[in-house]
Amino acid sequence: MKQPLGSIISGSLTDGFVMRVQPGTNLEDLKTGKFVSIAGNNHKFFSLVTDLSLEVTHPDILLFPPSEHEKLLQRMLQQKDIYATATLKPMLVLDKDNTPKPVKTIPQHFAPVFEATAQDVARIFGDEKDPSKKFFSIGAPLDMSTPVCLNLEKLTERSNGIFGKTGTGKTFLTRLILAGLIKQEKAINLIFDMHSEYGLQARKEGAQVFVKGLKTLFPDRVAIFSLDPVSTRRRGGSPDVEVTLSYQSIQVEDILSLESELHLHSTALEAAYLVAAHYKKDWLHVLLSKGDDLKDFALSIGAHPESIAALYRKLKRIERLPFFKPMQSGAYKDANVIDQMIEYIDRGINIIVEFGNYTSTFVYLLIANMIARRIHKKYVDKTEHFLGSQNSADEPKKLLITIEEAHKFLNPSAARQTIFGVIAREMRKYYVSLLVVDQRPSGIDQEIISQIGTKIVAQLNDEKDIQAVLTGINGAANLRSILASLDSKKQALLMGHALTMPVVIETREYGEDFYRAMGQNVTTKQIDEFVKELF
Ligand SMILES: Nc1ncnc2c1ncn2[C@@H]1O[C@H](COP(=O)(O)OP(=O)(O)OP(=O)(O)O)[C@@H](O)[C@H]1O
Ligand SMILES: [Mg+2]
Repeated sequence: MKQPLGSIISGSLTDGFVMRVQPGTNLEDLKTGKFVSIAGNNHKFFSLVTDLSLEVTHPDILLFPPSEHEKLLQRMLQQKDIYATATLKPMLVLDKDNTPKPVKTIPQHFAPVFEATAQDVARIFGDEKDPSKKFFSIGAPLDMSTPVCLNLEKLTERSNGIFGKTGTGKTFLTRLILAGLIKQEKAINLIFDMHSEYGLQARKEGAQVFVKGLKTLFPDRVAIFSLDPVSTRRRGGSPDVEVTLSYQSIQVEDILSLESELHLHSTALEAAYLVAAHYKKDWLHVLLSKGDDLKDFALSIGAHPESIAALYRKLKRIERLPFFKPMQSGAYKDANVIDQMIEYIDRGINIIVEFGNYTSTFVYLLIANMIARRIHKKYVDKTEHFLGSQNSADEPKKLLITIEEAHKFLNPSAARQTIFGVIAREMRKYYVSLLVVDQRPSGIDQEIISQIGTKIVAQLNDEKDIQAVLTGINGAANLRSILASLDSKKQALLMGHALTMPVVIETREYGEDFYRAMGQNVTTKQIDEFVKELF
């Protein structure tokens, strides 16, 4: 039998139990976030260590502490008078039949506490080898090597968030999860890849090392739609589709998402609606062609000349974007990128929209909104068709849309008006949900954050951000101390819908072992050589 870490001496369900640490334990081996089990009479209480402290039985001892040489005195004190405690927050109980249940009872006094075992972890979080293919490992509990799995089916039932300050491993975690969804075929992904990190390869911080992207790992299951084909080719790939769009496909709603980015005044937006009322789909085309006589134009549609001028000035930069191909007014037949996307999605192929060198927030917001709005509309139609026909062949495939810098899409004002707010709120009624990646979760609308099903949170320092990710979470006070003590890289607190209980993980290494598990045999060294050849 393994040595217990300690035994329970006090505590409560709400504040957590206090464990007296077994004398002789090396205190520095105990960490916050550690995954332990309390052995009750009939139940095992799985808990996370949320706090650690030093105690004495009598305050006088502290007034006359033993000197460094008084070894015997030190040892005697350690037997009875000085000790350490750990606070354990119970998250889940397993009964005698190993059925997981919410915690409603407490263990008796002096119940022993053990490190969780590999079997415990597998029983609680599932096993990647399970034939249902619903489990996918993204790491292991602190100081353990047993995989912790996400339930991918549950993951895709809601919108999800990956949070953490810069450099904590959000993009790596996102890539891991997306690889899992692609491998286990649990959802089709549409990824708005602002920094070109998901498709071909991505640089690993520090060394001149590259890691494989999703297109490289799953060449037949992923298509790259590139706004900047030159950049995609320079990185050694050829885009499956070169994205071109027309002004006619930009609606005023898409401009709404740029409100704060462009400092658009509400009067300018009203002017945009006026232009659209007169010229329908051609509104932007017409506006941008009126550079010389904006004043007459404004008067002709009954808009305020200054508002029209402001709108024109702010939107003029769209003309510099080469993937917008101006089309004559009335020529609505768009380059049909959206139809192509839908076709790929119907064939079960995941889409990465690469922005190449167009990394401005302006372009990212505009394009992501335009595409997402139209894909969502197609999904609404598909869903309604399915509800009408009730034919399972018509059931749309689940779609998960990944966006980085999510607070720019989902801040309180954007969330109210734009398509991403709609998707986040309607809770995949139409088979579409979001995977939001963000370093500043406090910027996201409160209501949206509370709708997020599964949260994966790496280190955050800002108090407001910590509070934002813990909104609506049971036992937030205890989790706060865990969040505060995460390492600055490759550690995360997982909580929510896709997990049986909250847990802290050491993130799965995204490297050769992972590629092999994904069914790939090329080594990183070979990729590096391949990349070197290109430059
Ligand atoms: N699972 C992992 N496997 C291997 N390396 C990792 C892993 N997670 C993080 N890293 C390392 O940490 C670095 C930073 O990770 P990443 O780029 O994902 O951070 P980020 O949170 O997305 O940062 P930013 O907010 O700046 O985009 C990576 O370049 C890589 O070296
Ligand atoms: Mg990143």
